Amino acid sequence: MGRPENFDETPRAEPRRPRHVAIIMDGNGRWATRRGLPRLAGHRKGADAVRAVVESCPDFGIEVLTLFAFSTENWKRSTEEVSGLMNLFRRYMRRESAELSRRGAKVRFIGDREGLAPDIREMMAGLEAQTAGNDRLTLVIAINYGGRAEIAAAARRLARRVASGEIDAEALTEAALTNALDTGGLPPPDLLIRTSGEQRISNFLLWQCAYAEFVFVDDLWPDFDRAALARALAQYGARERRFGAVAT
Ligand code: FPP
Repeated sequence: MGRPENFDETPRAEPRRPRHVAIIMDGNGRWATRRGLPRLAGHRKGADAVRAVVESCPDFGIEVLTLFAFSTENWKRSTEEVSGLMNLFRRYMRRESAELSRRGAKVRFIGDREGLAPDIREMMAGLEAQTAGNDRLTLVIAINYGGRAEIAAAARRLARRVASGEIDAEALTEAALTNALDTGGLPPPDLLIRTSGEQRISNFLLWQCAYAEFVFVDDLWPDFDRAALARALAQYGARERRFGAVAT
């Protein structure tokens, strides 16, 4: 079910600054390969880039940052890479929790937790609980996440409520589905950034990005920093968002 977090859904007074930025962090493998390093070295460097971007967000007025850390399709990678990434998530949660709190970041995970190791699930729940009182930035981390699976799971949850007679089928509105998603209670992304020159959405936040602006940048994720974020925000600021209406 959705977890309302008191986000005001009305458009913000300063429309040229995104409130919610989502990022597909792509290019870690290429970054490493170009340097003759193992792919995991690129992911480790990618974790450093996560730290830098999390630090920068509040300065740019960003309230919510959503990062695509591991997709439901990423299990197809080698066992070595998958276990290396899982260890990296463990290390990130262990090492960053104090820093995240110091920065006022509230962490929330989206994706299917059932498919993850029990100790990782415990660490995720612990980090969410530990940071629940913070309010400078909401950091949403997508792990074992797929947009279609998320929509199907939300539909199943609502269907069960209809079947039990708790709600009427007519109550299955767009708003009801929005709230039943893993991201329930969060504002939709205003800006979706993908690094490394690829121009695909790759099953990320399919429902939520209906009106997002897309910015594709050539930087590989480990090279993405505060200046790269500022450039992406400048591109966003130059766009005219109409939400289906006619330009005035
Ligand atoms: C895509 O690059 C990146 C990933 C699948 C993993 C993203 C993970 C991190 C940045 C690590 C840390 C994250 C957190 C939240 C602590 P790729 O491997 O597909 O790159 P390629 O296309 O160049 O091969």
